[in-house]
Amino acid sequence: MKSVFLPTDDRGLPVHAHGGHILRDNGFFYFIGENRTGRNKVSCYRSKDLKTWEFRGNLLTVDSKTQKHYFDTHLELDIPGQKASIGVGCNIERPKVIYNEKTGKYVMWMHWEMPNDYREARCAVAVCDTIDGEYTYLGSFNPLGYMSRDCTLFKDDDGTAYFISAANNNADMHIYRLTDDYLAIDSLVQILWPGQWREAPTVFKKDGIYYMLTSGCTGWAPNQSSYAFARSMDGEWSERFNLGDETTYRSQPTCVICPENDLGGKYYYLGDRWGGGGENYFKSEYVLLPLTIHEDGRLSLEWVDDNGL
Ligand code: GAL
Repeated sequence: MKSVFLPTDDRGLPVHAHGGHILRDNGFFYFIGENRTGRNKVSCYRSKDLKTWEFRGNLLTVDSKTQKHYFDTHLELDIPGQKASIGVGCNIERPKVIYNEKTGKYVMWMHWEMPNDYREARCAVAVCDTIDGEYTYLGSFNPLGYMSRDCTLFKDDDGTAYFISAANNNADMHIYRLTDDYLAIDSLVQILWPGQWREAPTVFKKDGIYYMLTSGCTGWAPNQSSYAFARSMDGEWSERFNLGDETTYRSQPTCVICPENDLGGKYYYLGDRWGGGGENYFKSEYVLLPLTIHEDGRLSLEWVDDNGL
């Protein structure tokens, strides 16, 4: 398939799962990400081959059910009287979902902002019994009081989960360990690259090595991505190494899909080729490219017109 695409779903509508990720469940690939059409916030699609997508539902909308949780949260999703930069209500960005074996719940973490400015810099949490059901919104907050913008989740093999987000007005990248139920922050375990202004984090693991991809900080405009590696999430991380070309082939990282006896054994980089703000946002496309992991652990991302899937 082509490396740049914006597929249509089984309803004939564009697949809006921007800033999202592709995860496996029930024998399918699930694509979960931002959908800012109508009153929607986060949508879910599924596929067997990453080409044909079945719409599964809007996981979060401005009208989602809310529930006050044990941390000090704000429950607003709709903010009447304020015009959103894109869509309706608060801004929800980069939603990611992980499954908690202990509680049997799917837990979503995301970036939350007011409709017309990005000063609050909060994360938000929602939860559901099924991957593609209607999530209950548990509210937004500043993790341990810090600012929190571009973010991702990573679940380790032993079930420990981490929330990674840009703090300090995007200057620093924080790694937080989550509580056992994944619903709250347990502790801040690492502060990466202070003052280096990284965004769009995504983490994956291969052969005991953790890799983190990030972009630079230039809004919707693409820039040079980089990666770093570590032997543990809370340990020492390497310096950053460039990945792809100076615009990461006009994309910003959002996830890496690891093979599981599929994908021809290859790792895949998924990035957003943003259309921009306002109505242009809805023209945003996806960039899906093979990510090469060399024998010595180095990563490289080359451009190909067809990604081989
Ligand atoms: C990017 C960020 C996107 C979105 C955009 C808004 O840097 O990664 O998720 O927030 O800025 O300008």
